[in-house]
Amino acid sequence: MSFSKKTIRDIEVKGKTVLLRADFNVPVKDGKITNDYRIKQSLPTVQYLLEHGAKLVVCSHLGRPEGKRDTDASLFPVAKRLDTFLPDTNVSFVNECIGEKAQTAVQKLKPGELLLLENVRFHAEEEKNDPEFAKQLASLADVFVQDGFGVVHRAHASTEGVTKHLPSVSGLLLEKEVDTITKVMEAPERPLMAVVGGAKISDKIEILNRFIDMADFVAVGGAMANTFLAAQGIDVAKSLYEPDDIPLAKSIIEKARAKSKAQPFTFYLPQDGVAAHKIDRTATTRIVDWSAHVISSIEHYPKRAPREAGVVHKDEMILDIGPFSASFIAGGVQLAKTVVWNGTMGVTETEGLRGPVGPFAHGTDIVTQAVLGEFGTKPFTVVGGGDTVGYVENQGLVSAFGHVSTGGGASMELMAGQTLPGVAALEDKSKGS
Ligand code: 3PG
Ligand code: MG
Repeated sequence: MSFSKKTIRDIEVKGKTVLLRADFNVPVKDGKITNDYRIKQSLPTVQYLLEHGAKLVVCSHLGRPEGKRDTDASLFPVAKRLDTFLPDTNVSFVNECIGEKAQTAVQKLKPGELLLLENVRFHAEEEKNDPEFAKQLASLADVFVQDGFGVVHRAHASTEGVTKHLPSVSGLLLEKEVDTITKVMEAPERPLMAVVGGAKISDKIEILNRFIDMADFVAVGGAMANTFLAAQGIDVAKSLYEPDDIPLAKSIIEKARAKSKAQPFTFYLPQDGVAAHKIDRTATTRIVDWSAHVISSIEHYPKRAPREAGVVHKDEMILDIGPFSASFIAGGVQLAKTVVWNGTMGVTETEGLRGPVGPFAHGTDIVTQAVLGEFGTKPFTVVGGGDTVGYVENQGLVSAFGHVSTGGGASMELMAGQTLPGVAALEDKSKGS
């Protein structure tokens, strides 16, 4: 099924004031944007609207200022970045998003000019989806365009409430995200492999269940795997895991087992891991091999490895998948035509002593190489989830992937088959077109 909502291509914007909701929730450190992927991804829609003669008013949130004005969460740095990206466009900024100040700034706009409004979350009414606030936002424009894919899983005033007052259509990024992700989940080229990582099972329970339903191969890594290991009776010692979710992990394993009995299907949990005492680039690391029995002590292969080779010491943490597990997953990738990847395989934020790949990022690095075709075949890969996208971006690899989503929670909810309120609220294509 292709995207069913009206887009900016279906409407006339010439001379109209267009309110564009973007997701400019980018990381800002000391007033500097440290990653502008989301801003870059908004440009096709921004440029389309400007070229078609719209007076363009853009709104967004940044961070979670919880209804209060907070200079650290100002969108001003984003206005400056937009200005650099749009050298021929008059870009301005107003430090309000509603009321007289905003109105006055909007009235000054000419076709082909862009005005960025200040963070909508400086008003508590935004997240409450307050009808009056939504109405005030809407009063600034003639048309609403939703292009902030990363935020459409929230029913807020600037994503849902506002659509009650204006003709509301989709931007090009939102269309591309929803189209690509939906296609991969509903009609992927098979075999479909899902690689799921990150910290918590509880965050990804829906997505895991859907992957077990849809995919041919599901591999789990990251801290989330620790809960699965614990559910199988492996002592994970100081590793991050969720004791309360052990029953959940057991039920997922059961479900996966049942599927693999009924049809060709693989559910893969790591068989080895990288253990250390601290999360630090100088940490001494050790491979613990709890079930592959291939790495730790080759001279005793296969049966008589010393006990400690298979045991995480009581003061150690598992911080990455081990080389055997990474190779196994990379092997699975060779057989896949489509890969959906959500969540890193270990701690990727720690830099290395010599280069960008830190001591706990080798598992993620091997998976990255595999999906990018370094070992032979290159599947179409969709990457989603904040930590994975951050890793891929920091390695400068975004353009090598089939699709790198700008959404965190939104891409996960979409993959899990949930309705996104910010998309549902837009006009359907059939309606009057
Ligand atoms: C995101 O970064 O996931 C989106 O911008 C949504 O932000 P939120 O999780 O604070 O609603
Ligand atoms: Mg400019």
